[in-house]
Amino acid sequence: MSSDVITIFDTTLRDGEQSPGCSMDTEEKLEVAKSLVELGVDVLEAGFPIASPGDFDAVQKIARRYGDRTTVCGLARCRPEDIDRAWDALHDAQNVRIHVFLATSAIHREFKLKMAKEEIVRRAVEMVRYAGDKMASRSDITTPNIEFSPEDAARTELDFLCEVVEKTIDAGATTVNIPDTVGYATPNHFRKVISYLKDNVPNIDRAVISTHCHNDLGLAVANSLAGVEAGARQIECTINGLGERAGNAALEEVVMALRTRGDYYGVQTGIRTERLFPTSRLVAGITGMQVQRNKAIVGQNAFAHEAGIHQHGILQERSTYEIMRPEDVGYVGTNLVLGKHSGRHAFRDRVTSLGYELEEDVLQTVFEDFIKLADKKKEIYDSDIQALVDQRTQRV
Ligand code: KIV
Ligand code: ZN
Repeated sequence: MSSDVITIFDTTLRDGEQSPGCSMDTEEKLEVAKSLVELGVDVLEAGFPIASPGDFDAVQKIARRYGDRTTVCGLARCRPEDIDRAWDALHDAQNVRIHVFLATSAIHREFKLKMAKEEIVRRAVEMVRYAGDKMASRSDITTPNIEFSPEDAARTELDFLCEVVEKTIDAGATTVNIPDTVGYATPNHFRKVISYLKDNVPNIDRAVISTHCHNDLGLAVANSLAGVEAGARQIECTINGLGERAGNAALEEVVMALRTRGDYYGVQTGIRTERLFPTSRLVAGITGMQVQRNKAIVGQNAFAHEAGIHQHGILQERSTYEIMRPEDVGYVGTNLVLGKHSGRHAFRDRVTSLGYELEEDVLQTVFEDFIKLADKKKEIYDSDIQALVDQRTQRV
């Protein structure tokens, strides 16, 4: 099942919401869901219906409102009651997926589940079938859309991982998601895990391989991209990289990496990238989790240039210092930030855009005033520049 299209599976409302201090009420989730649909995510994981009545309510409302524009997904442990609850929340959606998970690594088997390998395989297979049968009860569903995740896959013995993946595909999983639950993998390691599955699971082509990378070592995006190199065709990610602990792979980063380096990856997503910045702002506003200024793609400084040499280059030809166009990610803000590192070119540009036409000698004097001011002040606003010009041209 190798194609050049990557499915973007957004889990901002499920894994992202698990981020400490990020919980949202139903109305807020509906607002985020609307923005994600406009952004063009292929699958929207709306929550974990059995977790709480509020989660159930949000998943159900999102499924009913947006299930015709995206695939709405709900999470369930490998338990019939979880799957029943997920299906109750989801069944009104036109496009629907149930996501079941069970841990497979030795550490989880021994300390969390206290289950042997055989029992894990049996439970996973039974519950994937159970979820498939539930969905097939709806007459219009011929191929139930079931995702299975072997939790902590990146720390699972490879042969056992292959066995679980093969048997859950046989049981009806149409997507097999490979979580790096604790963000332990490195790009080379993760690439090898996906390649191993491709090479050793005989029925692997009947399912889509998915990545789900956490960011504990700051490698979630790099690992997701390494997964794509090895043949994964779905990426699970969140807006602003929200998620447990250090977060999940940031949607805006994986999407823009695949687009900007399309020459290398040769794949596409259906994301309307000009919606990235507004969606990021909306999620930051609702969750209260502010985006760091220098965050890639959606940080306030992501497209800001202060150094004079850079500003001069940008004014001549933007590609000298920009690998992406700010408007392609919907960025709004000042491109050329004036500070003590700025040069005369950028300064002149700003003065002109503020409506002034200055003789060269006046411009030089005002520029010198500006450099002195910039030495004392962190940020220079247009009003500061206006005041400097006005002072020298006796407008005040
Ligand atoms: O990180 C993880 O393993 C998960 C699973 C539920 C997919 O979030
Ligand atoms: Zn996760």
